[in-house]
Amino acid sequence: MPDRTDSPKKLYIETVGCQMNVLDSELVVGSLRSEGYVLTDDISQADTILYNTCSVRQHAEDKIYSALGRIRKLKEVKPHVSIGVLGCMAQKDQNQILRRAPHVDVVIGPGQLMRVSELLAKAKAEKAPQMAVSLPRSGGSRDEVTASFAEYDPMREPAMRPSSFQAFVRIMMGCDKFCTYCIVPSVRGPEQSRPPEVILAEARQLADQGVKEITLLGQTVNSYKYRQPDGRTTRLSDLLMGLHEIEGLRRIKFITNFPNDMTDDLLQAIRDLPRISRYLHVPAQSGCDEMLKRMKRLYTVALYDDMMARIRETVPDAAVTSDFIVGFCGETEESFQRSIALIERSRFKNSFIFKYSPRQGTKADLLYNDDVPEEVKKRRNNDMLSVQNAICLEDNREFLGKTVEVLVEGPSKSAARKGNGSGEVTQLTGRTTCDRIVVFDGHERLQGEFIPVTVEDASAVTLFGRVVTVDSTAPLA
Ligand code: 5AD
Ligand code: SF4
Repeated sequence: MPDRTDSPKKLYIETVGCQMNVLDSELVVGSLRSEGYVLTDDISQADTILYNTCSVRQHAEDKIYSALGRIRKLKEVKPHVSIGVLGCMAQKDQNQILRRAPHVDVVIGPGQLMRVSELLAKAKAEKAPQMAVSLPRSGGSRDEVTASFAEYDPMREPAMRPSSFQAFVRIMMGCDKFCTYCIVPSVRGPEQSRPPEVILAEARQLADQGVKEITLLGQTVNSYKYRQPDGRTTRLSDLLMGLHEIEGLRRIKFITNFPNDMTDDLLQAIRDLPRISRYLHVPAQSGCDEMLKRMKRLYTVALYDDMMARIRETVPDAAVTSDFIVGFCGETEESFQRSIALIERSRFKNSFIFKYSPRQGTKADLLYNDDVPEEVKKRRNNDMLSVQNAICLEDNREFLGKTVEVLVEGPSKSAARKGNGSGEVTQLTGRTTCDRIVVFDGHERLQGEFIPVTVEDASAVTLFGRVVTVDSTAPLA
């Protein structure tokens, strides 16, 4: 056997789930690279295989368990390969992962990610699987539980970012809302806002590295509140004002918002600060009060409508997107139709629609029957999608003939597939300030630039356009 201790360790990582997981993977890779690991996208070459997992729906977990099943053989042939399950599923399933997949070497929850390297080494040295998870929500005082979900934002790894000019910045961890269907408060722990000075320093460092667009992350990002020792409170609106001053940052986004916390100070900050993206993701989940109550969403449909009216009045050019759960316990055809009606009157730019998936350990799983049959969930999902798609198409067609400012992200999916993207003129894709996808032909060197594009065609998901020449005086939409 060749001695492998001197050659660089090859790391393969797969990430599922939300942007929080994408950022966590970036940070894990950053710390492992500083210890001599190199990244590979070929799993058969890897000697460390990590899965950063999601627990929000059953489907996300099934995908990981089947991936673990597939690599069992690989571990038999190459026993030196280390396998790790990180993130929300690790926190939720803990020992169950080792029972179902005994070839796994480390199981590490999202609040313990700073231990990845240490535990990989320990598993190897002791020839025994290692686990690091945080306390359950009822496993100690609030301070003890919070401390077990340690802050982990030390090292930024440019190679793992969405692009060299875009980055995520975590401003909060955890969630205290406890919506009855949701596993997140259990697996990501108590809500904690990071100190504003730490966030500003991180954003300044990213801007110095050439980042032009940052996306602030939090499960309920607009609930951000940091109490300084002198008693002053920093809100999201205050934080946005500070970030807006940072030279080099051209676009600042934040996801995901909670309807009750969409306060006027925040809407006014968005109105007054031009570099804040005109894009608000505010999940409604349902348009029926009875369902919202069962979901423990803490608002009524009237409050959501009022929030939409305040958004439209203060920031009329903002695009609003939403999440909906269809087939939640007890959802009747009438309650479902109320969700459809909410979509129709809110005219969301987009809605992410999910079929209810019972999660063990949640209040809904304990209290209610998952009584909507799968076929009904599927049908409601499709019906809702087609209503939303019709709105998307109508609203996108409003852009025909207008010129929009686009941050160019890179070759479009189809250009990337065809393999052109080698310095030639190619099909590029980017986004407007209201998060609309725009596809157009242009030189690859435009990547990372903000450019004006005139919209010539529109589908439900994409605007198609032409790059405007520099001397054009067309106003920007
Ligand atoms: N089943 C289906 N969808 C869910 N979501 C959260 N928990 C569940 C669940 N148990 C959806 C919500 C949330 C989005 C991230 O995932 O719509 O906003
Ligand atoms: Fe889950 Fe509700 Fe918290 Fe969102 S606000 S993460 S849906 S518990």
